Amino acid sequence: MKLAVFASGNGSNFEAVMEAVNRGDIQGEVKLLVCDKPNAYAMERAKGHGVPAFLFQPKDFVTKEAYEFAILDKLQNYNVELIILAGYMRLIGPTLLNAFEHKIINIHPSLLPSFPGLDAIGQAFDAKVRVSGVTVHFVDAGMDTGPIIDQEAIRIEDGDTREDVQRKIQQVEHRLYPKTIQRVIEKIGSVKH
Ligand code: GRF
Repeated sequence: MKLAVFASGNGSNFEAVMEAVNRGDIQGEVKLLVCDKPNAYAMERAKGHGVPAFLFQPKDFVTKEAYEFAILDKLQNYNVELIILAGYMRLIGPTLLNAFEHKIINIHPSLLPSFPGLDAIGQAFDAKVRVSGVTVHFVDAGMDTGPIIDQEAIRIEDGDTREDVQRKIQQVEHRLYPKTIQRVIEKIGSVKH
């Protein structure tokens, strides 16, 4: 299956996906990385893996629709079948949602529906919850609201710092996302045939 990853930042989840692809744990090829931030380290990671990386900045387009049409055109050039959001810090608009219905997935660092939106790890830490975790979900027009595919919890212990929580969450993310992506690929494949 042909995949595109969208990222805005560090790209550690992109890296985890690439490693899983290289191990054969994800039966797919990452055809391209789409990025909206020129300094995102994810762009460097893509180069390291020989994956074409394309920068699309909303400020270069008159409307969000035009921005997404340009991305869509690129995705179609590569025959992309599934979009993987990995720290892509924008809401997906109708142009991409309609073209990729139920074919866009996201990872979020909380047990949704708790703590949607920005800095979910900080939100959980500040709320002093003892359990948080990671959610993988299909993307819809809302902010972290689409149907949940899988979740995994972590415990926040006495004395854990924000950084400790972040480390626990990321460890889970890097394992859960590749596993869930493979499950989605199998499901899409079995529907097709
Ligand atoms: C992850 O915590 C992910 O859940 C959230 O953004 C973060 C991206 O981290 N959507 P990275 O860029 O993959 O390291």
